[in-house]
Amino acid sequence: MSIFYVPETKQFYLHTKHTSYVMELYDNHLAHSYWGSRINKLPNLEYYYPFRFGASFSATDIPERLFNSTDKLRQEYPTYGTGDMRNPALQVENASGDSITRLRYESHRIFNGKPALSGLPATYGEDCETLEITLTDALTGVTAVLYYTVFPEKDVLTRSVRVENRGNKPCTLENVASFCLDLHQDGFEVIHLHGAWAKERHIQRIPQSAATMVFDSKRGASSHNENPFIALVHPETTEDYGDAYGFCLMYSGSFSAEVSAEQYGSTRVKMGIQPLGFSWELKPGESFQSPEAILVYSDCGLGEMSRRFHKIIRENVCRGKFRDAERPILINNWEATYFNFNQEKILALAERAKAIGVDLMVLDDGWFGKRDQDNCSLGDWVVDRRKLPDGLEALCKKVNEMGMQFGLWFEPEMVSPDSNLYRNHPDWCIHTENRPRTLGRRQLILDLTRPEVCDYIIDAVCTVLNSCPISYVKWDMNRNMTEIPRKGFAHQYILGLYRILEEITSRFPDVLFESCSGGGGRFDAGMLYYMPQTWTSDDTDAVERLYIQEGTGLVYPISTMGAHISAVPNHQVGRTTPVTFRSKVAMMGRFGLELDLDKLSEETLDTLAKEIAQYKIYQQDIHHGDLYRLLSPYKGRTAAYEIISDKRVLVFIMNITGAPCQVPLRLKLRGLEPDKQYKDTSTGIIYEGRTLMGAGIPLDTRSDYRDFLTVFEICS
Ligand code: GLA
Repeated sequence: MSIFYVPETKQFYLHTKHTSYVMELYDNHLAHSYWGSRINKLPNLEYYYPFRFGASFSATDIPERLFNSTDKLRQEYPTYGTGDMRNPALQVENASGDSITRLRYESHRIFNGKPALSGLPATYGEDCETLEITLTDALTGVTAVLYYTVFPEKDVLTRSVRVENRGNKPCTLENVASFCLDLHQDGFEVIHLHGAWAKERHIQRIPQSAATMVFDSKRGASSHNENPFIALVHPETTEDYGDAYGFCLMYSGSFSAEVSAEQYGSTRVKMGIQPLGFSWELKPGESFQSPEAILVYSDCGLGEMSRRFHKIIRENVCRGKFRDAERPILINNWEATYFNFNQEKILALAERAKAIGVDLMVLDDGWFGKRDQDNCSLGDWVVDRRKLPDGLEALCKKVNEMGMQFGLWFEPEMVSPDSNLYRNHPDWCIHTENRPRTLGRRQLILDLTRPEVCDYIIDAVCTVLNSCPISYVKWDMNRNMTEIPRKGFAHQYILGLYRILEEITSRFPDVLFESCSGGGGRFDAGMLYYMPQTWTSDDTDAVERLYIQEGTGLVYPISTMGAHISAVPNHQVGRTTPVTFRSKVAMMGRFGLELDLDKLSEETLDTLAKEIAQYKIYQQDIHHGDLYRLLSPYKGRTAAYEIISDKRVLVFIMNITGAPCQVPLRLKLRGLEPDKQYKDTSTGIIYEGRTLMGAGIPLDTRSDYRDFLTVFEICS
């Protein structure tokens, strides 16, 4: 049993293999007691405060107790209006016009497994237990049903809340955090993943300030700029040492993550749907479900925190056949041709790709309508016969006859003003009456809050997928929302999107779906629930990718990150790197190609063939193994990563810029079993784990853009 309630002490214990999360009913307030390494028993809250803790400006509604105000109590789901002056988790406007909510414990229930969240992505699995705690406001009937699920073997906790109106008057939700947590200290450092188009998820580690720090997106998508993930660590926390508290919101829309230091030395962390532009009316009897958040605590640093996120996302977020199955190696024509291609060119590319071991030919943007640029045709998912005179079916057949699979790009959520769809349904896009419709990449967004628009998209995409054996779909989304017509709309849009994704992906279980948003503008656990991989960034430069992939990998596993070898000089930054270097960086993700093979020398094609063959041997190890970050590009000139699978240990070393090497340097491996034997596959020499971890392997840091892959077989 992982979850239990102790009536004598009124404590809830949520245990995983290495962690514990403890709460206490304090005068029917749900108080936070502890989150950290595994403990068996915790004293009651008052033990830690052996004096009466008074302060005039903390209003009192529990006069007899040491924490006589909610302003001092560490709380699990605080509200506004009866003493807690900090940022509330839940903000409600009541029918009487006030914003007061007073939640008190009503009941709880513990059960095996976890319920699905209606209309929203969520972790799933049998290997978990759930605690449901109901808190209610006796006057208004506003009720918060808090869900805590523990995955004991994975050291993961998830949280979400359903707000119900059990009163007899309507109310309006203005802010609903998916979780709130009052940690018993401040002085943390906050890690967040910051960026922009083509430089997503760069790691920022900044000291916690005395004010509220907000990391958010107001774009209608989780965004390139901030990812719905933050971590709190101590200043001394490293890759392998110290506390790390990680929070990942499983949501693809606008979100907000807040970290607030409060006056009595605790830190309030909360995450949820972005409150700006949000409001949700609840009539009597209605309810609202928040997105889910995944919470990971590690007392052995950031490396272990990441591995725990990786495992839960790989095994309990991603779904379908391709969660575990080997995925095809693809070539995408985007950077090879952009919009300028025809059937002949695609077939030539496919043929060359097949010859070097590629499995799947992906046709990117430009195959439909009359789309020679990004100014038209989105919404008209009908093949452009000028470019593909025999149609998609014939092209797909020819590619299949070569022994390759065929994949296709779509941007289903969008409409171009110059399209038949727009001409027929000018009101189907997001707009506000009497305001100009602001364009982004010369396009508008379809209004997915309208069921008929969602049905159109489902029908249009399914018609194409039914027309020929398409094995892969790249689902793109290339602008953010403007002229949002009403509060709550952006969340309704995301619910519409999730309905579409659920419908299409379940109708085509054999199709591999990859999501994309101008690269990684919607790289989040919500999208990964429907599509097991995401195009990580439109920046395909190998060096830039090291930073992007390391940031992304802080929370998301390698198996989810699309990574392609592209041309040199690189189209985004103009840098020239050797093909093997580009290849090793792509191997640290879902490996693929995105360049014109007709322009490569025989020698480069040969090298590519060898790299692909090598990747095919190791791809399952890479995608299902445990990742150890040995050297970070953020800290030096060399990046090094170790992956431990059941069978092998792979060590990737990528020198960015060469460094003079006067002494033989050594790279110590991690996570091995000291007594186990590991055989270096290139020399045949067998080492004990303790040797590789203690003394390390040679590290050659000379010369720019140099890559090394060392593989050890684990001897049984
Ligand atoms: C986005 C994607 C690219 C490519 C283009 C096509 O920018 O991220 O990979 O598909 O759209 O227009």
